[in-house]
Amino acid sequence: DWTIENFIDMEVEAIQKKVGDRNVLCALSGGVDSSVVAALIHKAIGDQLTCIFVDHGLLRKNEADDVMKVFADDFHMNIIKVDAKDRFLSKLAGVDDPEKKRKIIGNEFIYVFDDEAAKLKDMDFLAQGTLYTDVIESGTETAQTIKSHHNVGGLPEDMQFELIEPLNTLFKDEVRELGTQLGIPEHIVWRQPFPGPGLAIRVLGEVTEEKLEIVRESDAILREEIANAGLDRDIWQYFTVLPNIRSVGVMGDARTYDYTIGIRAVTSIDGMTSDWARIPWDVLEKISTRIVNDVQHINRVVYDVTSKPPATIEWE
Ligand code: XMP
Repeated sequence: DWTIENFIDMEVEAIQKKVGDRNVLCALSGGVDSSVVAALIHKAIGDQLTCIFVDHGLLRKNEADDVMKVFADDFHMNIIKVDAKDRFLSKLAGVDDPEKKRKIIGNEFIYVFDDEAAKLKDMDFLAQGTLYTDVIESGTETAQTIKSHHNVGGLPEDMQFELIEPLNTLFKDEVRELGTQLGIPEHIVWRQPFPGPGLAIRVLGEVTEEKLEIVRESDAILREEIANAGLDRDIWQYFTVLPNIRSVGVMGDARTYDYTIGIRAVTSIDGMTSDWARIPWDVLEKISTRIVNDVQHINRVVYDVTSKPPATIEWE
């Protein structure tokens, strides 16, 4: 009988047998797949697992602290958190092309991971959250091929690790069930997709700290209100974007000339196509009012009503 409980027992035993008294390294991002893979391997080998969590400064509000709280404090995993914000932001300075931004972030992620991994001794295995769908999509190649063009964090090419990919027979819904069984909190197991380049592709054009802050704060308000309205499981992805547009407004007696925030919220099955979510107007009204009142330098909020195709989900 295939059940998640049996799967856990079998995998724990298989991982223990494979690893023996050696050590495993894992890149933890706080996403569903890497979180579940880390929790499963941790259950099998405890302190023989070390995770590297690269905080590139492009995460959502409280995200880095939350990852550390859950996995370091509650799960007691060995986690090396790398505060690499300055490294990423200085590489991104002056760059406004979306694909260049992606490339810089992807490469920098590998350099940072590489630097940290090089400081560790006796790491024999690298754990990856490759799913069954990644395996099929990439045919006989490893998931590396697919992931490297879309996800931050391919592998440093000269690294000599043996891979451990315990999720590579599972579909996403099974991974979520597994995560739940392993005690990972619901907000991580049911987390909406979040792109590897993070908020850098939601600040359109050049990324600055001030603009990241605007996206981060407005996104936090949006997420809070979507959760309050009980819509967080119905909407596939929802976030704010900061286009490079300023427009005229009026606040009190004064004229303002400030930024516009775009709200993107879509329903989808797999992210390949999507429709814009019909968020009730009173919810949108509340979000808009809060964003304009609470986020500095925003005087206008617009809602994106385009499907994919012809638009994409992200704006960059
Ligand atoms: P688009 O914007 O292409 O997005 O309709 C489809 C899905 O992919 C996510 N996305 C990315 N994920 N690195 C990622 O890891 C990226 O560079 C990237 N670009 C888009 C997007 O959030 C959506 O879920």
